[in-house]
Amino acid sequence: MPHILAIESSCDETAASVCCDGIILSNIIYSQEIHKQYGGVVPELASRAHLHAIVPVVDEALQKANVGLGEIDAFAFTQSPGLIGSLLVGAEFTKSLSLACNKPLIAVHHMQAHVMANLIQTPEDKNSIPSFPFLCLTVSGGHTQIVLCDGFLKMKVIGQTLDDAAGEAFDKSARILGLPYSGGPFIDKYAAEGNPEKYKFPEPKIPGLNFSFSGLKTSILYFIRDEKQKNENFVEENIADICASIQLRIVSILLNKLKKAADETGIKNICIAGGVSANSGLRKAFEELGTAEGWRTYIPRFEYCTDNAAMIAVTGYHKYLAGVFEELSVVPCARAPF
Ligand code: KG4
Ligand code: ZN
Repeated sequence: MPHILAIESSCDETAASVCCDGIILSNIIYSQEIHKQYGGVVPELASRAHLHAIVPVVDEALQKANVGLGEIDAFAFTQSPGLIGSLLVGAEFTKSLSLACNKPLIAVHHMQAHVMANLIQTPEDKNSIPSFPFLCLTVSGGHTQIVLCDGFLKMKVIGQTLDDAAGEAFDKSARILGLPYSGGPFIDKYAAEGNPEKYKFPEPKIPGLNFSFSGLKTSILYFIRDEKQKNENFVEENIADICASIQLRIVSILLNKLKKAADETGIKNICIAGGVSANSGLRKAFEELGTAEGWRTYIPRFEYCTDNAAMIAVTGYHKYLAGVFEELSVVPCARAPF
């Protein structure tokens, strides 16, 4: 019954989790508030905030799991991708624990872990998990990928964004509308009250399974600029319809490519993951498409969609079983393929 302690610190969440035999016992997330006033994550401030938060967050994860440090069998951390200063805090802290406790060290790829969030089980909720092979649409603030998953650690990216990520498309659109950072959840909230057919934004024609969101962002920018010249209160008066129309287009870009990937591979086990999978419009449209296409659909529980350490713990557990360990000389890396 191996216990894994995992630490996630790739961006602006300091998170720790303990799992036993792959079952999550605790999942503690501290979201750094300091960045809100700057309208985006400030890397230097993120590193400092991780330094302040990491000891209490890890302590709470152990306490909640009712597991002592001496009972941990291996220590896992997010190695890549992310902000290098943020990654360094988690990596060096985890290495120190591994050295002090004389237990193995496991490096985890953050995007692989987002996919693995679909395989998370908790003691109270042993939900059904997808069987292999499955496809996963991973949509976060930094990445948009379609991943073909053949086994626990056997993953291949078969489509990805050529420019902005889906989360960036939400956040940059929100910024154009004057909404606070991070804007995705605000667009989601306003969209619930709006008419998604009111304004038509273009769908890019990108070959294969790749995505592009930069053209959409530019068309929103020009549309809002032109409408504000005619009526300076245009955004305030139409915020719900604008948000619903933007959300509809981002969701249709994502799901049209996911359907293409499912058609081409013949795979019917389909998952979504990453922060944007918290979006209610995407979740609803995904379930509807799944029903129409005869897919078995999977979405991680909300707290496992945005950045968290439970997904690092469960990936770490499968690396532990496979005996994939690192030397203390291992270093984090801002960008790396998996
Ligand atoms: O996976 P994540 O927590 O962090 C990264 O690894 O990037 O994803 C964060 C992204 C942000 O762009 C945020 O705006 C977006 O997920 N997001 C949402 C929603 N909740 C989070 N986007 C749209 N609707 C939401 N409800
Ligand atoms: Zn993430």
